[in-house]
Amino acid sequence: MEKSGNKKRENWSSRIGFIFAAAGSAVGLGNIWRFPYLTAENGGGAFIFIYLAFVLVIGLSTMLAEFTLGRRTRLGAVGAYKHVDRRWTFAGVLGVLSPFMIMGFYPVVGGWATAYIFKSLTGLLSNPAAIGDAFGAFITNPIEPVFWMVLYLAINIIIVVKGVASGIEKAGKILMPVLFVLMILIGIRSITLEGAGAGLQFMFMPDWSKVHGSTFLAALGQAFFSLSLGMGAMITYGSYLDKQENLPSSALTVTILDTSVAILAAISIIPALFAFGMEPNQGPGLVFIVLPQLFAQLGGIGFLFSAIFFIALMIAALTSSVSLLEVCVAYLIDERGISRKKAVSLAGGSMVITSLLSSLSLGVMSGFTILGVGVFDFFDILTDKIFLAIGGMLVCIVIGWFMNKEDIKDELTNGGSVKFGLFDVWYNLVKYVIPIAIAIVAFFGIISIPHTSLMIFGLAVIAVLAIFSKKL
Ligand code: PHE
Repeated sequence: MEKSGNKKRENWSSRIGFIFAAAGSAVGLGNIWRFPYLTAENGGGAFIFIYLAFVLVIGLSTMLAEFTLGRRTRLGAVGAYKHVDRRWTFAGVLGVLSPFMIMGFYPVVGGWATAYIFKSLTGLLSNPAAIGDAFGAFITNPIEPVFWMVLYLAINIIIVVKGVASGIEKAGKILMPVLFVLMILIGIRSITLEGAGAGLQFMFMPDWSKVHGSTFLAALGQAFFSLSLGMGAMITYGSYLDKQENLPSSALTVTILDTSVAILAAISIIPALFAFGMEPNQGPGLVFIVLPQLFAQLGGIGFLFSAIFFIALMIAALTSSVSLLEVCVAYLIDERGISRKKAVSLAGGSMVITSLLSSLSLGVMSGFTILGVGVFDFFDILTDKIFLAIGGMLVCIVIGWFMNKEDIKDELTNGGSVKFGLFDVWYNLVKYVIPIAIAIVAFFGIISIPHTSLMIFGLAVIAVLAIFSKKL
């Protein structure tokens, strides 16, 4: 049954609204929570360098590919692929499975950020030496982080129920600029701390001896994660785009914004980390441990900065997770023909359960592992290290090999009215270079442990989808 040829599709109310929403999807925990700790863990400058190269060569082009596919078909992930060629439906299904799985851990961290707004106001900073232990105690608690996660998810659900233009757009428009300004202020404070120079050196003087096969895959996965690529998000957002919109410049704007926030976040955190004499391998706790200490140093008003920062972090997370939820919801509406309300309850309800398991996996359920990792890491590693990269590869293959080049050109240039001199460069990147580059990076990443078996499991899941999803 073909339900994809749907009637009226909601549209962005204005150009700037789209840019804010797409940038809102991209800028999130990936930039502020994850990029700094990955950079710190993977040796600093070399990781940043590889990351930037991937963003420029692979990320930007893939984003343009996704916008083009979405707007051409005016359909969400699954419908878009199905429309091109039924055999590729599985790529769309993967594009819905990935956000569903990301929403198995993202709300947990979103909940932490929410909790830290209140903790900042209620004495978190009064004992700076205890901030690290307090974080550990908090995330392993079986009840407290679950409460915040549920609250966080509830806010997502409310926004997504209200529909595309009114909910997501408004939230993004008001709050993204606040975040940007705040990050600049925090960055300035961080680099002016005594001892921050070592951190800057760590960030900008690459130490290539720290680079392994897994570093490349980590950087690639992070580039996709941060830019919201390799799954249905940017395809779905593209499908809401107006025919007049300039796709290349939109993709460029979103990529620049996203990358600047990631770099700003690293500048806010890593120099401070060094100034405080802490080890770089703090892992996922980094932003929750280092920044409160930095705020504590500001004296009396520190708690206010801290609260505002965590409000901004929570909002950044929110504008990303609503897009993740929206992809799943758009699938249920477009392909399964159910109402928006029902779709949101179904998707949101399932995410409460998966996120609950993730949160508990950091504490009371830490003994329970799947292929060697806890539930939180299972969702995180599988999506970030395999599904997004393969998803990005598939979108490029479909555009390069299964769509008509002239149609693509027509869509991308709005029927010739937008000048895009680099079309052929982009097209060849998408058709040849990116799929091959991703295959190489994924191969060396997979064989370079840890988590080899988990990643092979991920590939097997994709293969199973490819075989069975023709029926979907
Ligand atoms: N880009 C978002 C972030 O950096 C996460 C995300 C990934 C959102 C994929 C949508 C799709 O936090």
